Amino acid sequence: MVKVVGIMGSPRVGGNTDRMVRWVLDAAQEAGAQVACIVLKDRRIGHCFGCDVCHQPPHRCFNQDDMEAVQPVLEDAHAFVLGTPVYWWGPSGHMKSFVDRWYGFQGDRHGTLRGKRFGLVLPMADSDPSTGRHVVGMFSDALDYLGCKLHEAVLAPGCGAPGDVEGKPEVQAQCVALGRWLCQAPTSPRR
Ligand SMILES: Cc1cc2nc3c(=O)[nH]c(=O)nc-3n(C[C@H](O)[C@H](O)[C@H](O)COP(=O)(O)O)c2cc1C
Repeated sequence: MVKVVGIMGSPRVGGNTDRMVRWVLDAAQEAGAQVACIVLKDRRIGHCFGCDVCHQPPHRCFNQDDMEAVQPVLEDAHAFVLGTPVYWWGPSGHMKSFVDRWYGFQGDRHGTLRGKRFGLVLPMADSDPSTGRHVVGMFSDALDYLGCKLHEAVLAPGCGAPGDVEGKPEVQAQCVALGRWLCQAPTSPRR
């Protein structure tokens, strides 16, 4: 069974990111996937210190925190929906700290994310969707570097208040389509 994991990077549970991630996961589940969601604000995931300890045996991060429990979930999943609000033209701090910890996933040693499917959901207050361009670019390049691909980014401009995205059926439809796509059987080998 295909396993799809949501990474919810907004500190505002019940807000726009949370709703978009849920739409994606519900659609994937309805299409037969096993789904789970990691709410980053509820996990203790420390900042990367750039100490390079993760690149040396035994490849354990200096931070001994919840990333140790999260990594096997990432390894086990086939596909992900990453969700973050736009914060100052970038991702939320929770999401950036999480991504920085992928530093230990580089190269062939782990291949933790290699070959997996990714989607991104991205609400923002601005009515101009190009405000999300740096976040889309960051994930597109970072995932490419790790041997996987950002399939689609669903942008939700004009969402300043929690729940604003509920009034955007076109955004919901894109999230549902993304969820259905993510739960298709993996086409590329992971390693
Ligand atoms: C610290 C902070 C920075 C933000 N920076 C931006 C920004 O640069 N551009 C923008 O359009 N919206 C910005 N916003 C608005 C959020 O992206 C918007 O409210 C989003 O819908 C929040 O999603 P959430 O409900 O999932 O938390 C910012 C909000 C906060 C709290």
